[in-house]
Order: sequence, then structure tokens, then C-alpha cells
Amino acid sequence: MINNLFQINNILVIGCGGAGLRAAIEAKLNGLQVSILGKRSKNDSHTVLAAGGINAAFGNVDSEDCWQQHFIDTYLEGYEIADPNQIEIMAKESPFYVEEVDKWGANFKKLKNKKFDQRYFGAHKFRRTCYSGDYTGQSILHALLKKTNELKIPIYDNQYVFDLLVEENICFGAMSFNILTGERTAHLADAVVLCTGGHTRIWKNSSSRKEENTGDGFHLGLKAGCELSDMEMIQFHPTGMVLPKELSGTLVTEAVRGEGGILLNALGERFMAKYDSERLELSTRDKVAMANYTEIIEGRGSDNGGVFLDISHKSKDFIIEKIPKIYRQFIESSLIDISKKPMEVSPTAHYSMGGIKVNAKDHSTRITGLFAAGEVTCGLHGANRLGGNSLAEILIFGAHAGLAASKFSKSIHTQKRSQKAISKCHDNLNSTISKGDENVLLIKQELRNIMWKYCGVIRNEKGLKEGIKRINNIEKQFSSIDIRLELNNQKDLINKLDLQSSIITAKATMLSSLERKESRGAHQRNDFKDCRKDHNFNINISLDDNKFLITKKNIPELKEELKILLNNSDQVEVKKENFLK
Ligand code: FUM
Repeated sequence: MINNLFQINNILVIGCGGAGLRAAIEAKLNGLQVSILGKRSKNDSHTVLAAGGINAAFGNVDSEDCWQQHFIDTYLEGYEIADPNQIEIMAKESPFYVEEVDKWGANFKKLKNKKFDQRYFGAHKFRRTCYSGDYTGQSILHALLKKTNELKIPIYDNQYVFDLLVEENICFGAMSFNILTGERTAHLADAVVLCTGGHTRIWKNSSSRKEENTGDGFHLGLKAGCELSDMEMIQFHPTGMVLPKELSGTLVTEAVRGEGGILLNALGERFMAKYDSERLELSTRDKVAMANYTEIIEGRGSDNGGVFLDISHKSKDFIIEKIPKIYRQFIESSLIDISKKPMEVSPTAHYSMGGIKVNAKDHSTRITGLFAAGEVTCGLHGANRLGGNSLAEILIFGAHAGLAASKFSKSIHTQKRSQKAISKCHDNLNSTISKGDENVLLIKQELRNIMWKYCGVIRNEKGLKEGIKRINNIEKQFSSIDIRLELNNQKDLINKLDLQSSIITAKATMLSSLERKESRGAHQRNDFKDCRKDHNFNINISLDDNKFLITKKNIPELKEELKILLNNSDQVEVKKENFLK
């Protein structure tokens, strides 16, 4: 069914996770009319999976903490290629947004003095991570939904956005179809905020669920003319579930280690002592992931291909209070009581640190009227994200993008409209509905296997080139994908569109990985083992259009006062020689 419905808004937000909701709230509070489009049910966006906490330097538990230390930890652990301006904003503003969302109903855990409790998370110098058990993302999402509801902001679930409306470098809306009925809508708006997440579902082991984080936001951005940056920087979380097979990759939150969980190999050795004797299991994520990977590949892992994460030395009451969701997750999936037995875990693709290039302050893109926030953007995390910074990011930069979009909407005197642009989007979608003998689900799985094998935890030139060749091969099958709208509604079509975005973002990731001839943070190459400190490598790798034009860009300048801060800071040295190469 091709209905041509129209919807008119001041601000259109695409994505109903935390960043999208916070952006929409800001626009509404600024007096604008705003709508939100989401693919999934609004109670079940990817934000519910962010588990262990949100960072804000309150200094409630460790009084020495301050925004400056939060800045230092984030910048240094991002291996000096993050945008310092974004980090500064986050480190300074996070306490405000954490308090705000708590008032709206997130209900974070409090100390006896009613201040927020704060737990350790990897590579933070102090206890800085505020939390609700191990379901912090869910608490935040529900608080934001409550506020959205109070403000009567409409959220349209089941909307698959297949194009942004762009002409003459101006974005004036988006095109979607209803996942259940196929009905199409042209959403016209003064400004659009893209909050569509990342692309880590395209790896075989992933902490994302089916049909989320397929790279569709990156693809929409690229088609509109945005620049992608740091696409090689994929965060592998050290601890994904190994069993049962159908849940492999599912997140086992860092809060387990933050609350005292230890990592053991099959020989019973607490191996992190070998890799980072100071911070042990609370080393940086990239280092813990590499350590787990090394133990597994070198034959000291479990029979099922994992290592053991053990918190059974803590009391059952403590475990149920601090990590109630994980306690249930292992019983419900495997009948394992983690207060008695260790969990089997291995690295899992968790977070896209690269993405659409945005202005640090207002999260505008280089397309007029198009803003972006959350995992779909790049700049805050550099080469390694600190756990707990992503929930801070979605609130802070969701609000910044919502405010900037509102200001933009108020500033324009005429609204862009173009029937030609709308017709072009319809034509593009119509031409995607193909007939043939290829099944899209099989190709999707093949892509996930390719990404894991050739662009996984450890990479090299030979593997990346082979991976690109294989992706080019599966791309040839694309036009023979059989779409049967009459059999399964829009499912084949959605899978095909997802696959298209995944192929494009997979290539972007492989090409950027090939270009970065060094090992830095989450990007580890066994043919270029060192992190190069010289100017040629302290850069961002940018991709410009669908032809994958790669350029190297200098990272934004550090302000003088931030340079002084960093010069006076101490960084933990980690021995490199024990990691697999
Ligand atoms: O392990 C976790 O709870 C993940 C948190 C994060 O990625 O920020």
C-alpha cells in the first residue's frame, strides 16, 4: 500500500531512545511542536540495554572527584583522538542532567545522606558512576517517557525511516513507512534530529538485539551528505554471554566487575594481574577485552570459548541488590545461579564510537537543518569509550541538539518543501522491492560472520582486504533478494534496507580500519602493533560520501587550560607485551 500521508512539525526527531526523547523534550520546552519516530516499541528502545550506570563527577563517594578528572579520564582513555570540546561539555554538565532525570523519575540509588551512590567503572580514577541496580538505561528511559507523556509529545512507533528529505543541502523532513501496514508518510519539518544509534549488530557477537544498530542512521546521514568519522573505532565489551548460543554476545554489565567480580581463565588464574596489575578487572575496556581475547585464543579459555567472570565470593543478598538483572538473566537463560557459579563470558561488539561528524556544542551536522545526537555521532569517545559515558552523552547532547534545532526553527523565515525530493524517495524505495532467489536473512548472517572474522578484535591488512572482497561479493546478491510483501508484510523489505545500511557501514568500517595503520584503543592491528604518537596518526579518519572518499583530519585543538590539566595528570601504564599479537 502506498499512501501519501503528510505530517508537518517544527522539529522531527528520529529515534525514540534516550537521545531522541531528551531532544524532543528540549524542543517542546522551548515552545515548539515536535514528533518522534521510532522503529521499535517506545518502551523497548536500545537504551534499555545500557545497564551499569551514568557518569557524573559529584564526588559523593570519593570527594576528590571533579569535572576536570572526568575530562582527563575520558580524554586519555580515548587515546587522544576524541573532540576535547565535547568531553569538556559532558564532564561539566553531566551532574545537572543526572539530577534532572532523577527528578523526572529515574530514581537512582541513594546513600544514607540522600546523595547519589556512585560505583566504580573501568578506568575511572574515582567512583563516579550513578546507577539504578544494573538497569540504569531502563530507569532513564522510563523517566524520559514519563516526561514526554506529560508534555504530550507524540511518539509514532513502528515507523521505518528510509530517507531524509534533503534538497540543496537543506534537510526538511524524512520519509517513513509503517512496519505493520506499509503505509508511507512524508514528515515535513523545519529541523530534524537524528538519534538512531550505531552499527554493532553487524558483528556475529553483538550486545545489540536483532534489528537494532544495523547502521541505518549512518546510512541516512551519508545519503544526506554528512561526513562519517572514526568508523574503525568499534568498542568490544569484554564480557558478553557465551551460552546459550542464541544469546551469545548479550551484555554482562561492567557493574559486575565494578562491584567486585573477578576474571579467571580455565587454569583458575586471575589473569588481569598480568595485563594491568594496578587496575586489574577495572582497566580500560579495550584492555580487558584484549586480555579476555588473548586468554581465549592462546588456549586458556573455557571449553565453550570464553573466560570466567566470578562474583560468587559476594553474598547472594549483595548480588541481588547490586546486579539484580544479571542475576536473573543467568537463571532465566541457563539456570545458573551466579552467587554459586561463575559466568562464561567473551568479547562482544558493543558500541560504535565513530559516526556522523557534528559540531561539539550544538550537534549540528554540515547539512542545514539536520542535527544528530547519541551513538550515531562521533567525537566524544575517540578510540575507547569509558563505560557510563554513553548514558551521560544521550541526555546532554540530546538536549543540546534539541535546543539548537529549536533555535534554528525559530530563526527561519521560509520552510523548504520539494515534491520532487519526496517523489525521488518513493522511487528509490519502490526500486528496492525486488524479486529473486536470494534470502536476505542468510546474507545478513554472512555479513556478520565476515565482520567478526576480518574486522574483529584484532585486524590486519590481509584480513581487511579479504573482508572487503567478500562484502563486495555479497553486495552482488543484493538485487536478487526476494521480497514477498504478501507473505510477511514488510519484513523482507526492512531486512533488505537494513542489509543495505549494514553493507555500507561495514565497508566504511573496513576501509577506515585499513587506513589506520597503527593500534590504538579498540582498533588493534597485528601488522602495526604500536600506537603512533606522531602527528600523522593523531587524526580522525573521515568518510565523505557513498563512494567512500577517505580523508585524514586533524583533531580539534586542545584549549590551553585543558593542556595544562592533562600535563599535570598521571596515566596508568599498561604492559603491552602480554597481549596477543
Ligand atoms: O557494562 C555496562 O553496563 C555498559 C555500560 C556502558 O556501555 O556504558
